[in-house]
Amino acid sequence: MEYSHGDSTRGLKLVCKLAVLLFLCAAAASGQLTDDYYDGCCPQVYRIVRSRVFAAMKAEVRMGASLLRLHFHDCFVNGCDGSILLDGSNSEKFAAPNNNSVRGFEVIDAIKADLESACPGIVSCADILALAAKYGVLLSGGPGYDVLLGRRDGLVANQTGANSNLPSPFDSISVIIQKFKDVGLNNITDVVVLSGGHTIGRSRCVLFSDRLANFSATNSVDPTLDSSLASSLQQLCRGGDGNQLAALDVNSTDVFDNHYFQNLLNKKGLLSSDQGLVSSSDPGVAATKPLVQAYSTDSRRFFCDFGKSMVKMGNISPLTGSAGQVRKNCRAVN
Ligand code: HEM
Ligand SMILES: *[C@@H]1O[C@H](CO)[C@@H](O)[C@H](O)[C@H]1NC(C)=O
Ligand SMILES: *[C@@H]1O[C@H](CO)[C@@H](O)[C@H](O)[C@H]1NC(C)=O
Ligand SMILES: *[C@@H]1O[C@H](CO)[C@@H](O)[C@H](O)[C@H]1NC(C)=O
Ligand SMILES: *[C@@H]1O[C@H](CO)[C@@H](O)[C@H](O)[C@H]1NC(C)=O
Ligand SMILES: *[C@@H]1O[C@H](CO)[C@@H](O)[C@H](O)[C@H]1NC(C)=O
Repeated sequence: MEYSHGDSTRGLKLVCKLAVLLFLCAAAASGQLTDDYYDGCCPQVYRIVRSRVFAAMKAEVRMGASLLRLHFHDCFVNGCDGSILLDGSNSEKFAAPNNNSVRGFEVIDAIKADLESACPGIVSCADILALAAKYGVLLSGGPGYDVLLGRRDGLVANQTGANSNLPSPFDSISVIIQKFKDVGLNNITDVVVLSGGHTIGRSRCVLFSDRLANFSATNSVDPTLDSSLASSLQQLCRGGDGNQLAALDVNSTDVFDNHYFQNLLNKKGLLSSDQGLVSSSDPGVAATKPLVQAYSTDSRRFFCDFGKSMVKMGNISPLTGSAGQVRKNCRAVN
């Protein structure tokens, strides 16, 4: 703390500081997230999160993608409440969609440590996830959008919820659309545009190798997978433990752009749930395919809709006001 001028001024400064905190942070706590929540009480939050994400991506560019996914997997389980960050026996980290899969926890810890020294007890872990995702996208070349803030942190993890709510790459398009609806993302645009998050990042072989061999009685390889991409993936995935990594966007792996959608039209989607948006016989495709086509030729529209849907996703059942708490350590309740 910066109270270094002796006892007489210390008391006065503390009162001022408390007044500022109570007034400006609490005033915004009206049950709604706002884009200026920390402007009065921790204006450094943007710079601090951005510089930590920048450093992490400089060490490993993929981290931008990993942080984006962390926010998504937080929001789909008990809302955007930082529950994915909690350690312990009921931890969401060990649910099937997350185990050995979600990553970036150390980056969140480092951001939290910086924020606890700059503005102790002020910035929630749930808001850190939302901001880290934003900078992961932006620093990968994607759109900027105004993140809404003021979330508080949940008190429980929900491993069962993580197992049931998160979409699987083996789900049909209808099931995926339903899982988005279940958390309030009821516009098919949300499903398609947020799937565009797969323009960055990687997937392990175990999650798509069913497409590469013994696919069906009539086709050894998934017929909706480009054959030269299939050969290179077969080579990558042969042998090993299934944890080998392939780019979700084979065209421009670490750049946030609309090539993901172009790939789908060229049978170059990696996951069955990616390619299924245009190639499956699911009835949902009547709505998803035209959107893929639109985004494949209009990257401005992709960027604009992506930002809108990220804000919508970030607004899934947030805790506000005096609900929950602001954790001091993102891995444990206070
Ligand atoms: C639509 C349903 C979705 C399914 C079925 C799905 C499935 C997957 C799978 C299986 C992986 C690879 C995990 C692994 O290798 O262990 C993955 C990675 C990823 N997903 Fe999704 N996902 C979906 C939606 C989203 C959404 C909405 C976003 C964000 C807006 C997103 C962002 C990412 C990112 C960035 C990665 C790469 C992470 C990294 O490299 O660390 N996904 N997804
Ligand atoms: C998570 O993965 C580890 C290592 O592969 C495995 O030992 C463990 O059983 C998995 N946990 C759950 C809950 O499936
Ligand atoms: C866990 O998530 C499920 C599915 O969203 C929900 O029905 C359940 O109430 C949640 N449990 C807790 C303890 O939050
Ligand atoms: C769905 O989202 C798109 C893009 O954000 C928007 O233009 C459209 O009006 C939305 N549709 C409904 C029914 O809300
Ligand atoms: C899958 O196909 C390969 C050759 O294409 C064959 O050797 C293997 O036995 C098959 N596996 C199963 C489980 O059918
Ligand atoms: C990506 O796609 C663009 C446009 O279709 C093409 O010009 C470029 O060669 C592709 N790059 C890679 C690495 O596949």
